[in-house]
Amino acid sequence: QSVRIIGAPTDYGQDRRGVDMGPSAIRYGGLSEGLSEAGVDDEDAGDLLVPRAEERDAQYRTPSKGKAKFLRETEDVCSRLATEVRESIADGYTPLVLGGDHSVAIGTVSGSAADAEIGAIWFDAHGDLNTPTTTPSGNVHGMPLAALLGVKEWDGVDWANAPSLSPENVAIVGLRSVDDAERELLRDSEITAFTMSEIDDRGLDEVVDDALAIANNGTEGYHVSLDLDWLDPTIAPGVGTPVRGGVDYREAHHAMEQVAVDGGMRSMELVEVNPTLDQHNETAELAVELAASAFGKRIL
Ligand code: ARG
Ligand code: MN
Ligand code: MN
Ligand code: MN
Repeated sequence: QSVRIIGAPTDYGQDRRGVDMGPSAIRYGGLSEGLSEAGVDDEDAGDLLVPRAEERDAQYRTPSKGKAKFLRETEDVCSRLATEVRESIADGYTPLVLGGDHSVAIGTVSGSAADAEIGAIWFDAHGDLNTPTTTPSGNVHGMPLAALLGVKEWDGVDWANAPSLSPENVAIVGLRSVDDAERELLRDSEITAFTMSEIDDRGLDEVVDDALAIANNGTEGYHVSLDLDWLDPTIAPGVGTPVRGGVDYREAHHAMEQVAVDGGMRSMELVEVNPTLDQHNETAELAVELAASAFGKRIL
């Protein structure tokens, strides 16, 4: 197996600056070594060119209704990222995208779904199911899953015309911070959300088995979106929107090992690592370790 690393150093999608340094921190945290320990070859495609937010006007382009900060910039990065991801898969690679904030998922998943029906497993404390009209913050990192499902409020934005995901093939794992409108959307849709309380009840192993079945059902593989705030902030402090009560170190590794054993992962991304909030790069290093497990690293 060969992995192509693609950096997407954005911080347009949220308010805490510094997440644009995520790709450097993850590489510096030993990504290439981690992947060789997993027995995969890696090729680094470098970073997409992303203009600094300070040079841009956050309000330049808004959707016809509601608000989405840096929408024009986010569309631009995501369309270039989608092309890179699509080409990587066509070239026989598994793309591994390094964010950046979680808005980059719109690009990664669009690219991964361009030539196939895919599912998605969203490892995250959050649902990321807001839209420009429901968002409490205007931050696009709280909206990518809704965008990918083609929720209508994205009037006039390219990605609304061609949904990349079907709700019945999407599983959110580790949910514990939900806005009111997201709760409603989840109630009315076929998306499956596994909350932390369900994980406490049934164990993560069983929940991830269910998530894999959902993502595989009738698809040609699935995307793994790993938001580092999925983890408990005591082990992953370097994120912009930490929420207490996340999964622990051993649970997280086991979940990634289940993904590796399943074998159906088509693309992966590591997002929301913010080195300015981190302790000695430990969140980036944890991202590396988890990627290595997802790509098949074993103890023996
Ligand atoms: N739900 C909140 C919002 O819409 C927080 C989203 C956090 N998302 C993330 N990818 N960390 O602003
Ligand atoms: Mn999150
Ligand atoms: Mn099992
Ligand atoms: Mn997220």
